[in-house]
Amino acid sequence: MRSVGSETALDTFVDLEPASDDFRADVLAGLAAPQKAIPSKYFYDETGSRLFERICGLEEYYPTRTETELLSAHADDLGALLPAEASVIEFGSGSADKIRLLAEALRRPRCYVPIDISRGHLLHNAELFARAHPDIQVSAVCADFTKTVDVGAIVPAGPRIGFFPGSTIGNLKPDAAVDFLRGAAKTLGSGGYLVIGVDLKKDRAVLEAAYNDAEGVTAAFNLNLLRRINRELGGTFELKDFEHCALYGEAHGRIEMHLVSRRTHRAEVAGATFDFAAGETIHTENSYKYAVDEFHELAARAGFHPALTLTDPLDRFSIHCLRAE
Ligand code: AVI
Repeated sequence: MRSVGSETALDTFVDLEPASDDFRADVLAGLAAPQKAIPSKYFYDETGSRLFERICGLEEYYPTRTETELLSAHADDLGALLPAEASVIEFGSGSADKIRLLAEALRRPRCYVPIDISRGHLLHNAELFARAHPDIQVSAVCADFTKTVDVGAIVPAGPRIGFFPGSTIGNLKPDAAVDFLRGAAKTLGSGGYLVIGVDLKKDRAVLEAAYNDAEGVTAAFNLNLLRRINRELGGTFELKDFEHCALYGEAHGRIEMHLVSRRTHRAEVAGATFDFAAGETIHTENSYKYAVDEFHELAARAGFHPALTLTDPLDRFSIHCLRAE
């Protein structure tokens, strides 16, 4: 942990950024598997984080605006339910937009701990939040939030509220989602709350449009993974050899994103060679969608009880306030 200097409004910055060895090992293992795959957490380099922010503003991508509307419309309900003078720990804070709405809804929040894997992005957004909220102690943690992070040393005593918006839980397979929720329950402690955004199951056309926007921002976000591999791991991918594909699979209740090879070719990564057949894919992301009851069952496996469930009038998105046993 390090305390930060007087030129910043942050209280502390803890740097647990995963080593680039992890990226190398995960990419080499993923490309060697029968179904080539790369974990979606690697989308978020500086360019990927910026592209994701653009996705959030797209007409087709309803989750961000629907969740934002829900947080604003139900600020009073959230403020009444959630404890006063709490520390808020945000898992995967990204642009840290929605925390502003939650912070406004809460009664005298004491401390804000954003955790994110993208260091530059995290520091920039945490700094903006700290300057806008001088009464709240802000301590940023650069880490992979899917692994349990020990925040004991930076969070003051008192109630804790976890915040996990954006349906990022959907990017984990259900068993991994339960593991994440168990870790969050441990971090928050008995009686702690988790405010979590979850995308709902719905019409396939609405779902697929959200991941195949007309401007091609999601395609650029997907392809940026290859650009990152080229830059950081000495990859030789030609971006024009791949195209973006996103389809909803009813059986799993998830959007799958892939990069589809347009032709038979060979590419190198970190000195290893990989062959691609025409039409072969690299699976880059799952985005699971949950009905309200399904999500409550998942949360129960991790020891959380539903305290409040919010949905929009079109039943597109849900926000759950869960309480740890
Ligand atoms: C971050 N996550 C919840 C987004 C999603 O919808 O699964 C990532 C994303 N991928 C493509 N568009 C957005």
